[in-house]
Amino acid sequence: MIKVDVSNVISEQEIAKYQDRVTKINKMINDKSGAGNDFLGWVDWPENYDKEELERLLKDAKYVRDNFEVLVVAGIGGSYLGAKCAIDALKGVKSPDKPEIIFMGQTFSPNYTAQVLNYLKDKKFAINVISKSGTTTETSIAFRLLKDLLERKVGKEEARKSIFAVTDKARGALKTLCNQEGYSTYVLPGDIGGRYSVLTPVGLFPLAAAGVDVKAMLLGAQEARKEFDNDNLKENKCYRYAVSRDYMLNHKRPVEMYVTYEPQMSQISEWLKQLFGESEGKEKKGLLPTSATFSTDLHSLGQFIQDGSPLLFETILNVLEPQEDVSIPSDKDDLDGLNYLAGKKLSYVNQMAFQGTLKAHQEDGGVPCNVIYIDKLDPKTLGYLFYFFMRACAMSAYLLEINPFNQPGVEIYKKNMFHLLGKKGY
Ligand code: PA5
Repeated sequence: MIKVDVSNVISEQEIAKYQDRVTKINKMINDKSGAGNDFLGWVDWPENYDKEELERLLKDAKYVRDNFEVLVVAGIGGSYLGAKCAIDALKGVKSPDKPEIIFMGQTFSPNYTAQVLNYLKDKKFAINVISKSGTTTETSIAFRLLKDLLERKVGKEEARKSIFAVTDKARGALKTLCNQEGYSTYVLPGDIGGRYSVLTPVGLFPLAAAGVDVKAMLLGAQEARKEFDNDNLKENKCYRYAVSRDYMLNHKRPVEMYVTYEPQMSQISEWLKQLFGESEGKEKKGLLPTSATFSTDLHSLGQFIQDGSPLLFETILNVLEPQEDVSIPSDKDDLDGLNYLAGKKLSYVNQMAFQGTLKAHQEDGGVPCNVIYIDKLDPKTLGYLFYFFMRACAMSAYLLEINPFNQPGVEIYKKNMFHLLGKKGY
């Protein structure tokens, strides 16, 4: 499904030097014995997921597909980015499919929130509220507003049948609310953190409602699970990628730029930025994950990447077969001089842009580049990729000797904000 080329970033000799550490860490991941080991539920999830719950989820998702114009998903961080990036990547950014999936609760923006609420006034909509803690302020405010609008539109009883929640099994204000109101609720298991939750109901409910084959996605993750649980650095492309990242950090390239050539994949980069940034950015360690979409950003950031401070390396996600394609027409006058491309597909032009840019950045700019070649983006491949990156992230973070599964730094801004807002106890 994918080919991972790290040869421009790290040599086979250097990869081999990591073998002992990788063997130890891989055992730690499989045995669930490392730091944060109570958050390793995602490792076996592609096989161990709750099959009965998935069937109930698929039934509810079908009900949403059959009965609503819009599904509003309220969530933030790991309770938002996985579904958002998968829907964009698989459906495209201008999908005419119904129901339309809209995200809210990922911002305090009064403008965005007002615009979404206004848009929903005349729409038949359902709500999918997602929060593991059940207390995240952005999500809670959004849900309060959405629930209020829906209840005023259709009444409390009908609203109850149009609200679907994903939260912890037992804890949190959202769970209490769900119990009290009788909403259809799915569990985000206690041993899976937000940014590792895309293959749980957190990602699967909105994806199934969007018409994505989530069983295929889980199958892809299962394949990755089997393929990447061994420590063989000659073969395990997931760990080869992980050590290439560590090598870059140790060789004065502290910034990893995720590059795609498809605007509909730019949200995958956002998911990757959260996964790696929140997992590794601790104790003054970690690579800074950043992203660009080419060729668009070659016309803005391209100059810096080529010639600027030598801080970064690239990890390029190159999809070989697009879901759709466009041919360039011939023109009898050829005033724009484009007839040399007449009959050629845009996918061909995009691939030539990839090859030309790779050569320019690697050879002339001296920018190390990893390339992940993806045959095509379908649900199975995406499930496989999600697992690939989560496992690579755990390995990378353990190579830095940090806990990949907590995020203590995120709490500090919240405390300050709550104090300023006058929340009790702050
Ligand atoms: O990865 C994480 O744990 C975080 O990004 C959370 O997903 C995010 O903060 C949202 O939390 P919750 O699902 O509790 O609302």
